[in-house]
Amino acid sequence: MGILDLFRLDGKVAIITGAGRGIGAACAKAFAEAGARVVVAARTIEQIEAAAETIRAAGGTAIAVPCDVMKEEQLEALVKAALEAFGRIDIVVNNAGGSRPGPALHTSTADLVNAFRFNVGTAFALSRIAAPRMVETAGGGSIINISSVAGNIPSAGFAAYGTAKGALSMLTRELAQEFAPKIRVNAIAVGSTRTEALQTVLNAEIESQMVRLTPMGRLGEVEDISACALYLAAPASAYLTGDIIGVNGGLLSLNLPMPRAFG
Ligand SMILES: NC(=O)c1ccc[n+]([C@@H]2O[C@H](COP(=O)([O-])OP(=O)(O)OC[C@H]3O[C@@H](n4cnc5c(N)ncnc54)[C@H](OP(=O)(O)O)[C@@H]3O)[C@@H](O)[C@H]2O)c1
Repeated sequence: MGILDLFRLDGKVAIITGAGRGIGAACAKAFAEAGARVVVAARTIEQIEAAAETIRAAGGTAIAVPCDVMKEEQLEALVKAALEAFGRIDIVVNNAGGSRPGPALHTSTADLVNAFRFNVGTAFALSRIAAPRMVETAGGGSIINISSVAGNIPSAGFAAYGTAKGALSMLTRELAQEFAPKIRVNAIAVGSTRTEALQTVLNAEIESQMVRLTPMGRLGEVEDISACALYLAAPASAYLTGDIIGVNGGLLSLNLPMPRAFG
């Protein structure tokens, strides 16, 4: 067996949340190219159908399952749909998440709790629903959480999002201990990556500032992230668990400077 065979996912089944566009769609495409059958989940039906169709048109196997990760019964239904379609689950990518940065003094407690629910609660819920089925049907597998560089580097403006992603990174380490040796759990601490979500905070000036403050001198592209996700999903990373891989262009401080509260 050659080294590239360790990056193949033939016979495996992957669920990817938030896969209608952006990083999730890129992960679904990458996994399908590597031989996995993929379950593309998000709320907007046209987008998940389009993402699944793109995969099928390229010769891969994909189904689209509408799912709002904030609704636990829909996460149960997602796991059920994957098992009904493909009979096993090997890989789960908890990718749906996010929340806008903003000054702490303009962030309500409800905003903070919502950021936690969206970024940590949903990943916890899907992991605990899927993990027993992964062991039962595939003997184990790999869970990949899409975290953020904002979860390990503190910066003004990130009290809610950064704290929530920091907790997601810690949840990754906790579950890795508890689910070993059957299920590996790792996260990617994503840096500024060109997607619709990033577009909402970009203008020409902010973009050039971000690029200037990023050692690698550019924004990330979704394939930068999906390549790492493929490694974490595949046998190539069989001895890696509980790790948070930073795919962020070398950032040691955030590249979106925001004002301090008191000048
Ligand atoms: N882009 C970046 O610079 C960056 C940096 C650090 C971390 N990240 C993380 O990367 C992940 C993906 O972000 P992205 O930039 O790819 O965002 P995106 O392009 O906006 O895509 C987000 C995806 O998540 C889905 N989604 C949103 N709410 C959902 C819900 N309640 N249930 C199910 N699916 C939902 C969206 O579809 P629907 O709206 O149709 O449901 C969409 O398919 C997030 O966790 C984000 O925090 C991104």
